[in-house]
Amino acid sequence: MTAANPLSKQSPVATSALMTTYGRQAIAFTHGEGCYLIDSNGKRYLDAVAGIAVNSLGHSHAGFIQAIRDQVGTLVHTSNIYEVPLQSQLASELCLRSGMQQVFFCNSGTESIEASIKLARKWAWQKGISDGVILVTEGAFHGRTLGALAATHSAKYQEGFGPLPGGFLRVPYNDVPAMAAAINANANIIGIMVEPAQGEGGVQLPAPDYLRKLRDLCDQHDLLLIVDEVQTGNGRTGRYFACQHSGVLPDILATSKGLGNGFPIGACLAAGKAAGIFQPGHHGSTFGGSPLACRAALAVYEALNKEDLVGNAERIGRYLQDGLRASLKDCSKVVEIRGLGLLIGVELDRPCKELVERAREQGLLLNVTADKVIRLVPPLTLNQTEADFIISVISKLVQEL
Ligand SMILES: Cc1ncc(COP(=O)(O)O)c(C=O)c1O
Repeated sequence: MTAANPLSKQSPVATSALMTTYGRQAIAFTHGEGCYLIDSNGKRYLDAVAGIAVNSLGHSHAGFIQAIRDQVGTLVHTSNIYEVPLQSQLASELCLRSGMQQVFFCNSGTESIEASIKLARKWAWQKGISDGVILVTEGAFHGRTLGALAATHSAKYQEGFGPLPGGFLRVPYNDVPAMAAAINANANIIGIMVEPAQGEGGVQLPAPDYLRKLRDLCDQHDLLLIVDEVQTGNGRTGRYFACQHSGVLPDILATSKGLGNGFPIGACLAAGKAAGIFQPGHHGSTFGGSPLACRAALAVYEALNKEDLVGNAERIGRYLQDGLRASLKDCSKVVEIRGLGLLIGVELDRPCKELVERAREQGLLLNVTADKVIRLVPPLTLNQTEADFIISVISKLVQEL
């Protein structure tokens, strides 16, 4: 049911009072239903962007709405100077699903990375290393705050924001010998930070044993394995966390995006030698882990479990990939179709940003990343009919390109 929305009959909000940080498309949505977004003309769009891998339950999920409504009327925010039982409950759920042991809550992906960097540095400092360096990878995207930005590999995003914090050394992605060489050449390496699959970097998947080999390197050299699951976590890839595809337990795991289904929340999880490091005062957040945010994320996990959405992501993700492969098998413009669960990339041999608008005209929202890669990250509730629609629109548009 669509509640009366005072903005629903207005045209898109004028942007002149906004900082121009985004290259926005000239469209605004009034409401959403399942995997669809609806604009002010009533046109429906199948949402294969999902707020960039955020709306895991789709739009207007009944259980999610009910939980938030109930919590808004009960308790929104107290403070982390008090016990927050919903926070403990959510932490237990996350630990159960991930195999990790402890959680710190924040409000976004980049903050979960900042917490991870600080945790790694504090761990190293306790071992007597005060100039520790974290190995990061080419093509990495970790966020926009200064620490996460320094770890990110993008001249475009970094330019003009120096001096960026030091303490990062970059090596090629999916290259274990390069990682090993960097460890051997530098005495002060304290950890490796890596995405299990690079989303912003163009849906790049490493070799299946990449994480396992990084885990081994970390164990051999007493380093921390820090996994950035901001985009890949919370069911997106057909496992609760993408590192579970390779049976690897990291020391630190950062996550956000799908965790709140659009309610801002991030989390830094620790296990093993990274657990028990932070003590009162070492890190904090006014809003992190509020009763409302935790109730929202608990509702997400309840739905993931009850509706088998992690399993659905795996099954429908495979169906979508297979369907795209079959219908584009003779198309020479396609370099590769790859993905894990419902994180799927269609790499073309040419820049394809114009497909975003053409797909929108056909009623499909999609995203292009790394210039040549169509990225599909629809809600985890996607069904077969919806997947068929995505396949038919993309196949047609790519053939016509
Ligand atoms: C892998 C990864 N890490 C970190 C971030 C930053 O998250 P946020 O935009 O919530 O700060 C993103 C966002 O796209 C991401 O994909």
